[in-house]
Amino acid sequence: MAITVKDGVFYLETVNTLYQMKVDAFGVLNHLWYGAKTDDCMDYLLDYPDVGFSGNIYEAENQRTYSLNTLPLEYATRGVGDFRVPAISVTHADGSNALDLRFEDYHIRKGKYAIPGLPAVYADEAEAETLEIRLKDTASGVNVILLYGVLWDADVITRSVVVKNEGSAPVVLNRVHSLCMDIPYGDWEWVHFYGRHTMERQAERAALIHGIQESSSTRGASSHQQNPTMLLCEKGCTETTGFCIGAALMYSGGFQTQLEKDQLDQVRVVMGINEDTFSWLLDTGDSFYAPEVILSCSEHGMGELSHRFHHIIRNHVCRGKYQLSKRPVLINNWEATYFEFDEEKIEKIAKQASELGIDMMVLDDGWFGKRDSDTSGLGDWFVNETKLQGGLGRLVERINRMGMKFGIWFEPEMISEDSDLYRKHPEWVIQIPGRKPMRSRYQLVLDMSNPQVTEYLYQVMSKILKENHIEYVKWDMNRSISDWYTATLPESRQMEMPHRYILGLYSLLERLTGEFPDVLFEGCCGGGGRFDAGMLYYCPQIWCSDDTDAHERTFIQYGTSFFYPISTVGSHVSAVPNHQTGRSTSIETRGTVAMAGSFGYELDLSKLSPEEKKEVSRQVSTYKKYQELIYNGLYYRLSNPYEENLSAWEFVAAKQTKVLVQGVVFRAASNILRHRIRLTGLDEKAKYRLAEDGRIYSGKALMSGGLLLPEIKGDDIAFEICLEKVS
Ligand code: DGJ
Repeated sequence: MAITVKDGVFYLETVNTLYQMKVDAFGVLNHLWYGAKTDDCMDYLLDYPDVGFSGNIYEAENQRTYSLNTLPLEYATRGVGDFRVPAISVTHADGSNALDLRFEDYHIRKGKYAIPGLPAVYADEAEAETLEIRLKDTASGVNVILLYGVLWDADVITRSVVVKNEGSAPVVLNRVHSLCMDIPYGDWEWVHFYGRHTMERQAERAALIHGIQESSSTRGASSHQQNPTMLLCEKGCTETTGFCIGAALMYSGGFQTQLEKDQLDQVRVVMGINEDTFSWLLDTGDSFYAPEVILSCSEHGMGELSHRFHHIIRNHVCRGKYQLSKRPVLINNWEATYFEFDEEKIEKIAKQASELGIDMMVLDDGWFGKRDSDTSGLGDWFVNETKLQGGLGRLVERINRMGMKFGIWFEPEMISEDSDLYRKHPEWVIQIPGRKPMRSRYQLVLDMSNPQVTEYLYQVMSKILKENHIEYVKWDMNRSISDWYTATLPESRQMEMPHRYILGLYSLLERLTGEFPDVLFEGCCGGGGRFDAGMLYYCPQIWCSDDTDAHERTFIQYGTSFFYPISTVGSHVSAVPNHQTGRSTSIETRGTVAMAGSFGYELDLSKLSPEEKKEVSRQVSTYKKYQELIYNGLYYRLSNPYEENLSAWEFVAAKQTKVLVQGVVFRAASNILRHRIRLTGLDEKAKYRLAEDGRIYSGKALMSGGLLLPEIKGDDIAFEICLEKVS
């Protein structure tokens, strides 16, 4: 049994971890523990200090040490004496905001709960158990049901929350966070992932300061600027040692992660939908479902924690035909042609690509409506016959005849003012009456909370997919959202719209991915502006960044790898000088970096020299040879590119039989020792043969002494080392 209850204490066990809570004498649910597995009840760690200005609940009478403001709480509220950051905040019909949640009952069942309308971790009955704990605010009738999914083998706990109004009046939900976790002891640092367009998920590690720290998005998407994931590490925690906890919110809209270090040095983490762009009017009898948080922890450093997240996302979040299978190596025409292409140009690119072993031609932006630049055409999802004179069908057929699959780009959520759709349905745009909306990349946003809009998108997109042999869709989204307003809701409910937008988006994705199970959907948002576990439920890969510069990509992919499996990372070789940074790196370096992901190309192959074409063909076959290892092997970060002069990573196959080490040395220097790389995760007693020269090393030597890289001349030079276990 993964979930047991004894004397009011809940034990949620996985193979290596334990999560514990306890209902105390006042019916308050205390958080006791999340960490290494012990047999003990960890309530001996609870302390009841007498802290000035930390009041006591009324029933505690003269016990001045029982305070909601100092206890570790499982789901913190506002207005009843805990002054730290809350997990939930409501406004009752009388205008008050107190919520006094006390334990009511619990249920345990086999299998993993699902969440209506929202993506969630899925598992077989035998792989997971669900715990529901119901808390209630008696005065208002508001029920809060805490949901826990316990995935034994995966060492993962999921959490979600349902708020049910069983009172006699409506209540406004101002904040319903999915995670609340209090950690009373320890010296903690947090790692979060910040960035910007073309520089997503930069890993930043910092000590916690007293007060509240936040990582969040109010952009209507999880965003380039922050990511809905977070690590909490004990000071000194490394890739291979020390304790750390990770949390990933499975949500693609605005989010909020807050960490508070309080007056007693205790830490509280809350994570969920961003309250700045949220409120929800919960009528009597109605329920609200919060998105899910995936949690894991490790005593052996951030590397092991990443492995657990990679496993859960790959095996219990991603779905469909391509979930675990190899993805086609693709060529995308965007950086090769931008908007200037016709049938002939696309066929030429495809022909060259097919000769070099590439599997799929992806036709990016510009194939539809009057889309000759980014000022027009979005919304008109019918083929532009000036560019593709024989229509889409003929182009797809010709490309298929070359032995290549065909994929296509959509940006379904967007609309150009210069489009037939806008002329016909200006009311479908997100815009506040009496105000001019923000334009971004010249475009406006469709109201995805309006079922007429999602129905239209379903009709036009499914028509294209039904009528043509399309095997891949790139689902793009190229702006942040503001001016929230929808004609479909009354004034009092307008701030429900950002969340309803995401529900509409998910419903359309669910419908299309369900109806076209053989199509590979790749998520995109100006690169990786919506790289989150929510999107990965529908799209098993996401275009990682519009920055295709190999040097910068090593940083972006380093940050991305903390939570997201390598198979989810869309990664391409592009032309030099790089279009985003102007930097030139060799084709070998670009290939090596792009191989640490779902691989492809994005350049005009006809401009390559014969040697470069040969290298492309070598890269495609190398990638195909290692694809299984890259997707299913354990991925290790061997260096921190922010602190070292190189970025190095490693894939180790099951049973540690095969090893692929890749990386880039950034800056050359003269008169220095060669770089040494120490490997990780090998069988220390086994012997390994180096593919390059056949030399044999022990696993122990490779992990302790490491390997010397060849002498490196030049900047941003890639290396690749393959080893095979021989005994
Ligand atoms: C942004 C994407 O990230 C690019 O790859 C490309 O598809 C453009 N949009 C097209 O407009």
